[in-house]
Amino acid sequence: MVSKFHLPDAFLLRFKKIDKDHQGLVDVINRCDDALSSNSFNKFEEEIKTFYPLIASHFRYEEALMSAVDYDDLETHRDHHLAALVNLREMCKSNRDSIETKRHILISMFDKIIMDIAKADMMFDEFLIENDYKLAKR
Ligand SMILES: [Fe+2]
Ligand SMILES: [Fe+2]
Repeated sequence: MVSKFHLPDAFLLRFKKIDKDHQGLVDVINRCDDALSSNSFNKFEEEIKTFYPLIASHFRYEEALMSAVDYDDLETHRDHHLAALVNLREMCKSNRDSIETKRHILISMFDKIIMDIAKADMMFDEFLIENDYKLAKR
């Protein structure tokens, strides 16, 4: 089955571990989407509940890394992560009985990943490169 949700190459960073995390999150969304397409609603619920802990752990990883390299924009980035988590928590609590709502939630989850990359992670990637941090190339 062709994956419906796809991270364009322009959203790849030079920091491979972070890219891998982002792809892992997109993979969860695609598994949810596949489950939905085959009307496997239990499987959908099983998959979707792995998303929040995974993205929360990704954010913690980024913040720890930023703190370790004295990233000057850490507070802004942390606020941005927190806003995404609050929104995701609200979404998880919402009624998702209809297939349309389930699909809408998947699109919003994908949007959170895109916004994390475009509005925050890309700036951090630039910072790592500008400061010649070797870890960026790992
Ligand atoms: Fe990220
Ligand atoms: Fe981030």
